[in-house]
Amino acid sequence: MMFADHVRDLANLAAADRRRTLAPRRGIDFASNDYLGLAGSDRLRASMIEALSRGVPVGSGGSRLLRGNAPEHEALEADAARFFGTEAALFFASGYVANTILFATLPQRGDLIVHDALIHASAHEGMRLTRATFVAAAHNDADAFEDAITAWRASGGTGRVWIAVESLYSMDGDQAPLAALSEIADRHDAVLLIDEAHATGVFGTDGRGLAEALDGRENVITLRTCGKALGCEGALLCGPAVMREFIVNRGRGFIFSTAPSPLMALAVGEALRIIADEPARRERLWASVATAERVLAPYGVTATGSQILPLVLGDAARTMQVADAIQAAGFDVRGIRPPTVPEGGSRLRISLTLNATVADIKALAKVMEEALR
Ligand SMILES: Cc1ncc(COP(=O)(O)O)c(C=O)c1O
Repeated sequence: MMFADHVRDLANLAAADRRRTLAPRRGIDFASNDYLGLAGSDRLRASMIEALSRGVPVGSGGSRLLRGNAPEHEALEADAARFFGTEAALFFASGYVANTILFATLPQRGDLIVHDALIHASAHEGMRLTRATFVAAAHNDADAFEDAITAWRASGGTGRVWIAVESLYSMDGDQAPLAALSEIADRHDAVLLIDEAHATGVFGTDGRGLAEALDGRENVITLRTCGKALGCEGALLCGPAVMREFIVNRGRGFIFSTAPSPLMALAVGEALRIIADEPARRERLWASVATAERVLAPYGVTATGSQILPLVLGDAARTMQVADAIQAAGFDVRGIRPPTVPEGGSRLRISLTLNATVADIKALAKVMEEALR
């Protein structure tokens, strides 16, 4: 039979409670990354209507290196570099693609990448393509990063070191020790790669993220994805001008791919202005975080000091049963299973956004009591 191996693999996934399906969007939003509720905001919608009515094209028509380089891309990159305080920025169609290109392109043969053990799948994708050596360091353990570098140098490694972390971890809601990692990077002449996917818009002055104090440094590159708190899609790599120029010349996924829609570049530019102009959105989100930490604590939900609150249940089947019960009551809380999280680490990932009110959070707490019983 054609695809017999694939059918067997799907059956194995089902047997391990890991087979996924695409579910419709239903219930109050405790699952999206639209933290500031910008995706459906009047202001983003108005900016798109205005752009369409003055003739901004829907498609870019080609690679950035050919006809696809629209003024909207360049304007966004200039705005983003100014906003984040870096020499340059480069826009991509998604964070996954940006990370893949970053890890595949910048570290060279003979270099070492030391990455956090819980780093996102997109970084792993890039590392599958890199010519550099790569090694995992224990999650959020700055000493483990330094030990890995020291061991590699002792074994004869002579190239550049790249330290790769997320500033706010997407499944745990905890923060990387950025100050300590930056000191390690300086000591070892290393470059620090910081994925700000879940911190952008939520943390920092005007939503600049957790790495704002490091932006602009010669040895720091940050990734700002645009599909989460910015409410759009795409991603911005921010850092030194040479990073931008190197990827334009050597980043295969950048060169051999159609540029993102100029409309989306405009939308992201508007989203950056919104996060700076409307701090009340962040204030409301932090009020939700405070409520959630209080009312969900009795059910074992971890208070993380962020908008991402995990409830680790361990077993995949039980996690999905609890998620189903909560969803049936009208709350869109999703269960997360391996390989997205480590083996035995299945969990509910409660994501707080402005799409749910404080009253919704309190109502969720009542439902969780029942669902966990
Ligand atoms: C930490 C992290 N990096 C990168 C990505 C990929 O970004 P995007 O969704 O824009 O492809 C995600 C989101 O899934 C993420 O959580």
